[in-house]
Amino acid sequence: MLRVPNSQTNNLRILGIESSCDETAASVVADGRTVLSSAVSSQIDTHRKYGGVVPELASREHLRAIVPVVEEAMTSAGLTWTALDGVAVTQGPGLAGSLLVGMTYAKAIAFAHNLPLIAVNHLEGHIHAVLLEHPETELPAIALIVSGGHTHLYHVRGNFEYELIARTRDDAAGEAYDKVAKLLGYPYPGGPILDKLAAFGDPLAIRFTRAQMKGNALDLSFSGLKTAVLRWTEANGIGAEIEARRRVPPDGGIADWLAATPATTLNLIASFQQTVIDELLSRLRKLTDEHPVKAVIVTGGVACNSGLRAAAARAALSVPVYFPTPSLSTDNAAMIAAAAFPKLVRGEVADMSLRAKASLAL
Ligand code: KG4
Ligand code: ZN
Repeated sequence: MLRVPNSQTNNLRILGIESSCDETAASVVADGRTVLSSAVSSQIDTHRKYGGVVPELASREHLRAIVPVVEEAMTSAGLTWTALDGVAVTQGPGLAGSLLVGMTYAKAIAFAHNLPLIAVNHLEGHIHAVLLEHPETELPAIALIVSGGHTHLYHVRGNFEYELIARTRDDAAGEAYDKVAKLLGYPYPGGPILDKLAAFGDPLAIRFTRAQMKGNALDLSFSGLKTAVLRWTEANGIGAEIEARRRVPPDGGIADWLAATPATTLNLIASFQQTVIDELLSRLRKLTDEHPVKAVIVTGGVACNSGLRAAAARAALSVPVYFPTPSLSTDNAAMIAAAAFPKLVRGEVADMSLRAKASLAL
């Protein structure tokens, strides 16, 4: 018999497990609100030499990391298994082999310790990363999920129902950052490096053409922008400069990248970033004008972007805009445990037949 949580009980502690991409993460969150621990093991060093995430290597690294990461989350929360009320796991979307590692281990813990198992959609997790830190967020809201794998706009209703409003038709925003960084000779993941370099360039130096969307005008497209950056590098003959950057040690600091980047390239990076920000903010402005929502939620790895945060603050939308702190913007398990809380309270628990789904929709 599973222990059934009492919805009146305070202090429901959920262990969350996340392994959908290249981060192995575990976290214990009480009542969907209080983070008791959050452990994240990143595989960036493994994937960097390939310029992106290699699925086979990701699964292998998850297998290596999952047990110590869960142990670390339990130890730093100061809890034993009997103090838990549930185990939540990312069911999808993500890399099939990676999801499977977290799913299998979560099931093993749930089975061994007689705990309810809660399935969480990774994208719903990203939305809860904001609700976890900002319980004052009023619903309905518009949620923009911008990460390496997703650029999705949702309408979030009061009862945590989600309606997909628009999405990228090709590259995700984070993917565009990583691809542009790669073609300019910076290491993976390029988003954080380009973000820092953009601050030193003129965002209005180059006017990139904005993608015109047929059909849903709110959809986004970033692959044309990436090609436009490539064409600019060809037209401006900066091949030698790019090659020189490829020889800079990949774990260098921002001073090293700044020293290896001439002013014209800083302008290119700032203009690229400005175009991405304009594209995202124009959607948020239109949606908050047209929908009677009470808040905007921006989440996912690209929500770390300092230019996007500053632009959202300047945009003075008609409703408050909430971002998670950077450690909760990128993949983590606290967001999975937080998203599981209302499900556990509603009794929405899974059984041992639960399967990971690489293209699970929200
Ligand atoms: O949410 P996340 O950790 O993983 C996915 O679910 O994809 O997001 C990682 C993505 C990468 O593409 C990374 O380059 C991007 O987020 N990213 C950023 C910044 N920090 C991380 N992109 C732009 N500016 C940043 N500061
Ligand atoms: Zn993510």
